[in-house]
Amino acid sequence: MSKPDPKSQELEPLDSAFEVSLRPPLFEEFAGQDKTVERLQVMVEAAKQRGDTLQHILLSGPPGLGKTTLAYIIGNAMGAEVRTTSGPMIDKAGDLAGLLTNIERGGVLFIDEIHRLQPAIEEYLYPAMEDFKLDIVIDQGPSARTVRLNLAPFTLVGATTRSGMISDPLRSRFGMNCRLDYYTAETLAKIVSRSAGLLNSELEPGADMEIARRARGTPRIANNLLRWVRDYALVRAGGRITAQTAAEALTMLDIDSEGFDEMDKRILEAIIGLFDGGPVGVNSLAVAIGEESGTIEEVHEPYLIMQGYVKRTAQGRVAMPKAYRKLGLQAPKAKSEQSEFFSDQE
Ligand SMILES: Nc1ncnc2c1ncn2[C@@H]1O[C@H](COP(=O)(O)OP(=O)(O)OP(=O)(O)O)[C@@H](O)[C@H]1O
Ligand SMILES: [Mg+2]
Repeated sequence: MSKPDPKSQELEPLDSAFEVSLRPPLFEEFAGQDKTVERLQVMVEAAKQRGDTLQHILLSGPPGLGKTTLAYIIGNAMGAEVRTTSGPMIDKAGDLAGLLTNIERGGVLFIDEIHRLQPAIEEYLYPAMEDFKLDIVIDQGPSARTVRLNLAPFTLVGATTRSGMISDPLRSRFGMNCRLDYYTAETLAKIVSRSAGLLNSELEPGADMEIARRARGTPRIANNLLRWVRDYALVRAGGRITAQTAAEALTMLDIDSEGFDEMDKRILEAIIGLFDGGPVGVNSLAVAIGEESGTIEEVHEPYLIMQGYVKRTAQGRVAMPKAYRKLGLQAPKAKSEQSEFFSDQE
């Protein structure tokens, strides 16, 4: 039997029932991202007091940090219905027209992976976002004509893991642009405790932190690790989830104390072992480790950069002294001095 992979970011079609069951429904239950949450709360409150439609909101950040969760919280707080779709699911202008004409006044349309909207569809969206109007072409050939439809005022909430791929015209039509950051271990520990409560599992002192430290700053990973620890404790420890049981369970998954998985290690090993510590372009790196460059950029690299293992420079990725230490190697002196000369580039 193959080992389960609780760190996997792949979910079944849309989001798994497990995940949905752990989604906080209110701002008050959403831990962390304090600035973003505060801004959103102000916007929602103002819109409600004025009886206005909420402005369009763009949520960006790596997978599993709470974009979809926030979209539903926003809808909930506005007392509005949320309709969900995703960029790649809309392949004809008619699909978009269907969605938009069905939204009630003040309703929320959530478009996940909005960076994957086709350019032609994006253009249809502009007047809808700006003036709540939609120009649709009916008939073909000589009798083709454009009809302008009036839409009920609505709020578009867009989510993206790649904010760099959002076109400027689209970005500028959002009234608020929120970028989610990785969570601290302390915040993740709170999320783990809350989830354990919802799952009717009791965590003994320290178990929450044991899981949180290994979750790469990501609530989805924290919840998935909790699920695994709970199974492990049931089978191996009579259901008692102590810090030690949690540590044992996670060691069994080859997740080390900083939450590094196989791919993180392979990235560091490749930069150091194959490319002499870098700088190396993301495409060469992708070929070397057999992963897509987009996945490296979106899923793996942000955490490695945030933790100071890798630096992104104009010339490519460079391994930092911490990366050498992680692999039990000595950082070459010249290299660490040399890396000072590379400029930062985001
Ligand atoms: N701040 C938070 N507090 C509590 N739970 C959270 C928080 N953020 C995320 N979660 C939990 O993490 C899981 C993943 O969150 P969510 O689906 O919102 O991520 P996402 O950013 O939409 O990811 P993706 O980019 O893959 O769509 C959910 O089960 C949610 O309950
Ligand atoms: Mg999502």
